Amino acid sequence: CRIRHYKFNVVMRNTTRLCSTKPIVTVNGRFPGPTLYAREDDTVLVKVVNHVKYNISIHWHGIRQLRTGWADGPAYITQCPIQPGQSFVYNFTITGQRGTLLWHAHILWLRATLHGGIVILPKLGVPYPFPTPHKEVVVILGEWWKSDVEAVINEATKSGLAPNVSDAHTINGHPGLASNCLSRGGFKIPVEPGNTYMLRIINAAMNEELFFKIAGHQLTVVEVDATYVKPFKTHTILVAPGQTTNVLLTASLGTGKYLVAASTFMDSPITIDNTTATATLAYSGTLSTTATKLTKTPPKNATPIATTFTNALRSLNSKLYPAKVPLTIDHSLFFTIGLGVNPCSTCVNGSRVVADINNVTFVMPKISLLQAHFFNISGVFTDDFPGKPLIAYNYTGTQPTNLRTMKGTRLYRLAYNSTVQLVLQDTGMITPENHPIHLHGFNFFVVGRGVGNYNPKKDPKTFNLVDPVERNTIGVPSGGWTAIRFRADNPGVWFMHCHLEVHTTWGLKMAFVVDNGKGPNESLLPPPTDLPKC
Ligand code: C2O
Repeated sequence: CRIRHYKFNVVMRNTTRLCSTKPIVTVNGRFPGPTLYAREDDTVLVKVVNHVKYNISIHWHGIRQLRTGWADGPAYITQCPIQPGQSFVYNFTITGQRGTLLWHAHILWLRATLHGGIVILPKLGVPYPFPTPHKEVVVILGEWWKSDVEAVINEATKSGLAPNVSDAHTINGHPGLASNCLSRGGFKIPVEPGNTYMLRIINAAMNEELFFKIAGHQLTVVEVDATYVKPFKTHTILVAPGQTTNVLLTASLGTGKYLVAASTFMDSPITIDNTTATATLAYSGTLSTTATKLTKTPPKNATPIATTFTNALRSLNSKLYPAKVPLTIDHSLFFTIGLGVNPCSTCVNGSRVVADINNVTFVMPKISLLQAHFFNISGVFTDDFPGKPLIAYNYTGTQPTNLRTMKGTRLYRLAYNSTVQLVLQDTGMITPENHPIHLHGFNFFVVGRGVGNYNPKKDPKTFNLVDPVERNTIGVPSGGWTAIRFRADNPGVWFMHCHLEVHTTWGLKMAFVVDNGKGPNESLLPPPTDLPKC
């Protein structure tokens, strides 16, 4: 294993999309940012230097950060932000993971333009558990606002209303045909007939789950969230913000240009955003400049397509890559996920959209939770996060009126190595969106999912405890539930939140605190000396 050094200069850069130019926050002047390459077992050092006016922090989404929570990145959770003119070296080792992940800013809405791919190759000499592709292509899906993204969210916070939706989706930074400007056409994937390619698809969008498909070609799914899956073929994949999917694509048609499309799933009805981003799969020797073979994108309410795709995902569960599903449970948790309105004196109409987990709207602390935990600083958080809703009710029916959310910086405490089953129940009150829930510091097994209210008597009998898919972000179905299991083998403070940024902003977030174990390698390491101060 090696040590890999990266330098991320956070700088403003004028960037033109949709016929207009604006300064955006970038890493090294690039949008999307640079891809970070490493092998399993490598140590990665990324020096982040902040040259802009915003506070910055970078999260290595899906990297487990075993005992190195200080390098995880969410602002005010594991670190104070890197202030203008300051720098911080993120130092972590990649243990037991290989595949595609992403990095992104984890403060304000800066991840709109501050994001990039992470490619973790297997250890030297270890092959993929599928035929080695001829070439690999990182494909990052994103969103573009014509206006300044920070202004969009500031305005929404002031008014209490939902923020403006983006003006376009992007594939590797370009809207493609959705744009009526010169840059039309967008990103190109050149292929030679007969070869097989691996696309490492990353959804870095702020607020949209996306369908992805390529005209005329089937895709073979081989990995999600840096864990191998049993390969299966599909025309359409679904990727939620924060999720990644590796697919194999065989250039079997020999000639022509084929449209690659990323289109939205389950837009909220209050939004009008329905732009489809496009790119082009181009066979070598093809002369025409526009994609000629179009593809029909799924309708945005295509729940059956989404469900079929989700249900097809299974851990590879081979001898080399076993699925270590916890079979006994120490903590059985039930969290409701809700959106609602709370009164507010200063905003439009006197009410503000809020979001909660078990009716707690999370309040960000002023110093990082990990520091408060490590140095025993009192008054920053409490560890009384409710393990179930305070009152039981019909979660997918009308919510009782006495269920107003309360604010709090409340954490749920877990003993080292204890096992957790967490049922996430959507209460689907306002919008038909899925909630892609992301847990920092762990992979979890998705043992079950269903529509309607979770039934604790019947539903556990249907759980897959043999080869459930292992991931770090899972879409909780609108008006339904998802059950996950994980082992708390990583001491520290770990954020869990909806990866639709607008919902995180509204408070759909909480954190777990995992205590140290007693063994020699079972405690959180001390903080690095250059850890930013608040
Ligand atoms: Cu990719 Cu806390 O997020």
